[in-house]
Amino acid sequence: MATLPALSLPLATLTLSLLLLFHSSAAAPRKLIQVQQQPLVLKYHKGPLLTGNLTINLLWYGRFSATQRSIIADFLLSLSAASPPPPPSAASWWHTTALYGGSAPRLFLGRQLLDDHYSVGKSLSPSQLSLLASKPGASPTNINVVLTSVDVAVDGFCSSRCGTHGPLAGSAGFIWTGDSEVQCPGQCAWPFHQPVYGPQTPPLVAPNSDVGMDGVVINLATLLAGAVTNPDGNGYFQGPADAPLEAVSACTGIFGSGAYPGYPGRVLVDQTSGASYNARGLDGRKYLLPAMWDPKTSQCSTLV
Ligand SMILES: *[C@@H]1O[C@H](CO)[C@@H](O)[C@H](O)[C@H]1NC(C)=O
Repeated sequence: MATLPALSLPLATLTLSLLLLFHSSAAAPRKLIQVQQQPLVLKYHKGPLLTGNLTINLLWYGRFSATQRSIIADFLLSLSAASPPPPPSAASWWHTTALYGGSAPRLFLGRQLLDDHYSVGKSLSPSQLSLLASKPGASPTNINVVLTSVDVAVDGFCSSRCGTHGPLAGSAGFIWTGDSEVQCPGQCAWPFHQPVYGPQTPPLVAPNSDVGMDGVVINLATLLAGAVTNPDGNGYFQGPADAPLEAVSACTGIFGSGAYPGYPGRVLVDQTSGASYNARGLDGRKYLLPAMWDPKTSQCSTLV
């Protein structure tokens, strides 16, 4: 029997109003509290999954450096790279989603909009996030991603979630996550920062030298996998539909083999920088990507 890693996910703190507005799923902050191990089965609820070509549009909300934007853009390009680097790669990680729907959606990087004047302020409500998510435009093959900068507060950010995904009118879905480096790196950028709760292990060196953006990579990866395997809240998940554990959120805290609460598992270490990673990307990029549940084995599958 497969087991859920001994982590507790504080999804119960989501408010009903947020859920009604979003019908969405959260990438939960990593509160590493030991709970009894449970079998890990993500039930398929017979709804549609996303397959085929998908365009990922990015709305950069707040101030991001060009270096920060390139970390994320390169990550997205790496997921469906035509000529990926040898495994373990971001492309081989994304390919795991093919075990759900028969083929991994092919991701294209679409429009990137910059909103560096904080057009709706520095404290965002769910309805403001939805409004921002619609800005790159609607198409049935679009997933619009809102990324909030380090100085932007979002309702529920840190206290109950590191990001969300959900439906978006006329599109395949939306995702929001943000740079948590100042507000809650121990919750949303673990293992690159000491965890707030639970067993303490030394933080890993972030592979792109940016705790906030390397944390965004983890959360964006989590939410993308959820968005394609549970786009409408009736795909693959465990638990209640309003607080689901999805393809990657069900495997929270696991990055390599031998993981246990507070310890992300064995990963690769760059000899020069000391950075931890488990996936190669385009242009020599390195990323640390979370484990994904494998429907064939009912295990959280790691790249290394
Ligand atoms: C997906 O994109 C590829 C590459 O641009 C293209 O050749 C293919 O026809 C597209 N498929 C669909 C169903 O649009």
